[in-house]
Amino acid sequence: MKLLLDVMDLKIRFRVRKGHIYAVNGVSFQVHKEETLGIVGESGCGKSVTMLSLLDLLPHSAEIESGTILFKGNDLRKLKSRELQKIRGAEIGMIFQDPMTSLNPVLNIGTQISEPLIYHKGMSKKDAFVRSGELMEMVRIPDGKSRIEDYPYQLSGGMRQRVLIAMAIACNPDLIIADEPTTALDVTIQSQIIALVKDLKKKLGTSIIWITHDLGVIAGLADRVAVIYAGYIVEQAKVDDIYDNPRHPYTLGLIKAVPSVKDSGDRRLETIGGVPPDLTIRPDYCPFLPRCSYAFDRCRLENPPLSKTLENVETEHYFACWFDVRKGKPR
Ligand SMILES: Nc1ncnc2c1ncn2[C@@H]1O[C@H](COP(=O)(O)OP(=O)(O)OP(=O)(O)O)[C@@H](O)[C@H]1O
Ligand SMILES: [Mg+2]
Repeated sequence: MKLLLDVMDLKIRFRVRKGHIYAVNGVSFQVHKEETLGIVGESGCGKSVTMLSLLDLLPHSAEIESGTILFKGNDLRKLKSRELQKIRGAEIGMIFQDPMTSLNPVLNIGTQISEPLIYHKGMSKKDAFVRSGELMEMVRIPDGKSRIEDYPYQLSGGMRQRVLIAMAIACNPDLIIADEPTTALDVTIQSQIIALVKDLKKKLGTSIIWITHDLGVIAGLADRVAVIYAGYIVEQAKVDDIYDNPRHPYTLGLIKAVPSVKDSGDRRLETIGGVPPDLTIRPDYCPFLPRCSYAFDRCRLENPPLSKTLENVETEHYFACWFDVRKGKPR
């Protein structure tokens, strides 16, 4: 498969009063054409910061310390902001978590969907408005064409999220970054949105990065999954390998926290014990150590790199752990 996005060794920190918050600590990942990459991890692990950095949308207190971000072979970090603006919204579309704050309350929906079409595609206002109606129908807003003059408050939460999807796909991007787009929605609407995105992906051939803290959500959606903990990718593999053969203790914990339809009602969902990681340091030990029930001496001395074991060289299954949870002994 053709490589679309290649992120290498990304490190990002925030300046704070007493030093730094190390939010992203040497993250590397790739997205191929027509592929969906799921990015999973608990709140504060660095999912959004990583994605915002791709498009130069980080706040001023953030500093990209290192990293290369190749999109279709071009290093996005070397582009001038005007050049990046051309990519943002046109070649890379974004869908954010909260549709109410991402939509402008005083502009009607058609005007907002038209904006990228006018800016990036040079469409006339009139043509863009017509196209907006078509896009509303594409994201299956009932009677979409007749609703383009509605304002955001006149739509339900699920419909507003569909409008954001319409805006993201308006210019036929190569890549869509969806940052927890269904978290604010109830489960039924959530699965409708996921079905819609899957369908659009098939039709348009777009690649997707889907960010979530819920491993269950991406089961039927992602081709590959990267699990993030404390700004490190701790496991990365094909989606089935992540579910059937998790190798990092943190991933194991996440899987136990996913409710299953097969569960009898009495099974309690497990949560991962312990405190969230201290991001004011980049530890020289394993960042998951304080919460890990498998930890042994080596974990206190060295931070494990993301790597494969000999038995899975073929499978592209990477994990950052000194312990082999399958064999129940150190690697
Ligand atoms: N403006 C900021 N100043 C200082 N620290 C920040 C700032 N923004 C984010 N951080 C830190 O960076 C870390 C990563 O934040 P990020 O928003 O990427 O988390 P996330 O994985 O997207 O979480 P969530 O699931 O809650 O959206 C957080 O732990 C936070 O402490
Ligand atoms: Mg986030």
